[in-house]
Amino acid sequence: MTIPAVRPVDVFDEDRAAALAAASTSGRVDDDFLERFDAHFPRLHGLFTRLYGARPDRREQLAQVVATASASWNTRPLDLKVHDRQRRSDPDWFQSERMLGGVCYVDRFGGNLAGIREQIPYFRELGLTYLHLLPLFDSPDGESDGGYAVSSYRRVNPSLGTMTQLADLAAELRLAGISLVLDFVFNHTSDQHDWAQRALAGDPEFEDFYLIFPDRKMPDAYERTTREVFPDDHPGSFVALEDGRWVWATFHRYQWDLNYANPAVFRAMAGEMLFLANQGVEVLRMDAVAFIWKQLGTSCESLPEAHLVLQAFHAVLAMAAPGVVFKSEAIVHPDEVVSYVSPEECRLSYNPLQMALTWEALATRDARLLQQALERRHALPAGTAWVTYVRSHDDIGWTFADEDAAELGIDGRGHREFLNRFYTGRHEGAFARGVAFQQNPTSGDARVAGTTASLAGIEAGDPGGEDRVVLAHAIALSTGGVPLLYLGDEVAQLNDYSYADDPGRRGDSRWVHRGNRPRDQYARRGDTSTPAGRVFERLTKLISVRRATPEFAGNSLSTFRTPHASVLGYQRIAGDSVVLVLANVSDAEVQIDPMTLSGLMRTARDLVRNADVDLNEGIVLRPHGFVWLRTRSA
Ligand code: GLC
Repeated sequence: MTIPAVRPVDVFDEDRAAALAAASTSGRVDDDFLERFDAHFPRLHGLFTRLYGARPDRREQLAQVVATASASWNTRPLDLKVHDRQRRSDPDWFQSERMLGGVCYVDRFGGNLAGIREQIPYFRELGLTYLHLLPLFDSPDGESDGGYAVSSYRRVNPSLGTMTQLADLAAELRLAGISLVLDFVFNHTSDQHDWAQRALAGDPEFEDFYLIFPDRKMPDAYERTTREVFPDDHPGSFVALEDGRWVWATFHRYQWDLNYANPAVFRAMAGEMLFLANQGVEVLRMDAVAFIWKQLGTSCESLPEAHLVLQAFHAVLAMAAPGVVFKSEAIVHPDEVVSYVSPEECRLSYNPLQMALTWEALATRDARLLQQALERRHALPAGTAWVTYVRSHDDIGWTFADEDAAELGIDGRGHREFLNRFYTGRHEGAFARGVAFQQNPTSGDARVAGTTASLAGIEAGDPGGEDRVVLAHAIALSTGGVPLLYLGDEVAQLNDYSYADDPGRRGDSRWVHRGNRPRDQYARRGDTSTPAGRVFERLTKLISVRRATPEFAGNSLSTFRTPHASVLGYQRIAGDSVVLVLANVSDAEVQIDPMTLSGLMRTARDLVRNADVDLNEGIVLRPHGFVWLRTRSA
């Protein structure tokens, strides 16, 4: 008698049955859930098989993931279920020209969650539709990487408030038309997390949650091909434990990387993710996505499996919290950044290339590298969008592709060195006042920290400072996707050097641009005799124009070339209407002649000045000047 081979379809059916059985032991499996289970389980199953096919506990872990998803759906508050339905009927909601994000630390901007709540009227005044609160979870006292070392995903840092307050805040923001965005710091936990503590105590179940090795053999082998991400904190990718073992820590000593090769880690983290989703978070910022999968002999960054893990999380989310969207945080080579963006993975992604090249253009007074990036690296799959920004809570890294730069005759390494010198004020005549971050003597790599106002020249008293702040935002507000404002930048907040006196912050120069809410500057925001008032007036004007400009919705863009290296040009098109953006990154006036504009109808509307423009006369762009011109193709 021949034994029939197991057909994959049998495995699928058996896994499916096991998953549904597990779901029903943890409560009712309702029809809504079942419908989405049917839609997404095949995908999740395929991903799980590719990731964990060889693991004996694969079926059981997969079944538990589904059980967690079903139980999470059962406890999802009704208002969120209603919201899910709205989002599903308008999945491109984030593509609207009305979108505007704000970013802040809870303690620094509001003191605590109650203080953030008090700021809701201000958020509305500004027109925010999205609020990213930087990590607010329980984390170690003292150094915690600004909360990116999470000790519990289910507990708010007691100095900031409680989980109930967070859920209430999410609901209140939603009523005000503002989506709450929180980090899902899923690459690592803090060393104080219960799992880490149990691993440290030698519990084998939790030792397998991290990458812990008895000696230097494997760490040495891995480090032959990995790079140092936070060399100021520790060399390499591992740190020594007191008992002589070594644990993988890509970032700080106290941030231990999770071991996603273990399906129990995926299962446990899927539970934490859904817990957060049920608090009313609408966008999860997927922190440090590039690092989640490790493979000996590789850079351990952006490996194919990292995508599979993200897609598997997405499938779980689609089952249990279908209105929630992922935003990717990948600050890596532009080819890799874009690889995380798809409707099945992250529908939103930071655009670190555009951010960095905006600064690059301001320093060089040459927009060609940025223009080239818009030309060839802006396009995204349908249903996805960039999150554009001028700066974030992190450093600015020069993540452009060397091969792109080479086409313009620019040597990548030398250019990065120049940009670092320029933005740390070490270049003769530089307008920028920034601080070096993670200078790596071995690789020569470094990044830059500083607030927008300080980097743009306001701190140095450069006459172009305010114009550069406005210009940089005018670009982020008009290229498409979701523009972000780092709160404080709209009132020209300067660097805060006091971090150097704080032992918990001294070692991390990013604190220079994470100052407390600048109360006085906010109080003066209506006074245009101050930089705060002038920048605020000009930025809020741009924000309101953007909101009334449907051409700025969505992500598609076509570039518009002029003969001027210092002028960035692109068009945003809606139907037969075109908004042409021209931005002069130099300190000199530029005349755009009528010939260059000959493909356009002769009369255009300057949306910011609210005046008609006769293109027969060409356009004059002031130093750091720009126009948003509504016109049509001739
Ligand atoms: C992300 C965060 C950054 C943090 C790192 C480690 O890059 O934006 O602030 O240091 O992840 O969690």
